[in-house]
Amino acid sequence: MTDELRFRPLQAADLDALYAVELASFSHPWSREAYAHELTENALARYFGCFAGGALVAFAGCWLIVDEAHITNVAVAPAWRRRGLGEWMLRRLFVSLQAAGAASFTLEVRAANQPAIRLYQKLGFRCCGRRRGYYDDPPDDALILWRGGTQQQQEEE
Ligand SMILES: CC(C)(COP(=O)(O)OP(=O)(O)OC[C@H]1O[C@@H](n2cnc3c(N)ncnc32)[C@H](O)[C@@H]1OP(=O)(O)O)[C@@H](O)C(=O)NCCC(=O)NCCS
Repeated sequence: MTDELRFRPLQAADLDALYAVELASFSHPWSREAYAHELTENALARYFGCFAGGALVAFAGCWLIVDEAHITNVAVAPAWRRRGLGEWMLRRLFVSLQAAGAASFTLEVRAANQPAIRLYQKLGFRCCGRRRGYYDDPPDDALILWRGGTQQQQEEE
């Protein structure tokens, strides 16, 4: 599968394609304006995409704050799911972010989002906290996951 895929940083010109994957992936998507800000103005933001035959089929982004990468969004286009793409993309993301100085990774995920939670567990994330009632419509808790760094080490001690 990976022979036909390309992984690269996203730019402003990728906004339309990114937003199509966003709309297909989330019941409460971020606004298009928010992503325009991420791709053009937010100096902390790092976004990467996977392209198949030139078309964006998945993306992931984060805010790199000193040596912590706060992952904001991860999405694979529905037709491309369950083929190892999400895992492949995140492994590439970790390598790119570590080269940029990231020592640990964190994110929030709906407690009911089992596909995402299993993906993150497979990649070494561990649950280090829970924000009760964090999400609306449907209501759900947020799990706070960490991979690497002091938070995970403390949790495991
Ligand atoms: C979560 C998401 C990114 C997974 O992408 P994907 O490309 O389908 O995942 P992969 O094929 O790489 O799967 C890797 C691992 O994730 C887990 N996984 C992925 N989808 C799963 C599912 N539907 N059910 C159970 N486990 C799943 C499995 O552990 C899998 O490993 P395995 O194939 O050895 O069992 C994708 O379902 C998606 O875009 N969902 C909508 C957006 C979203 O919820 N993003 C996360 C927000 S925090």
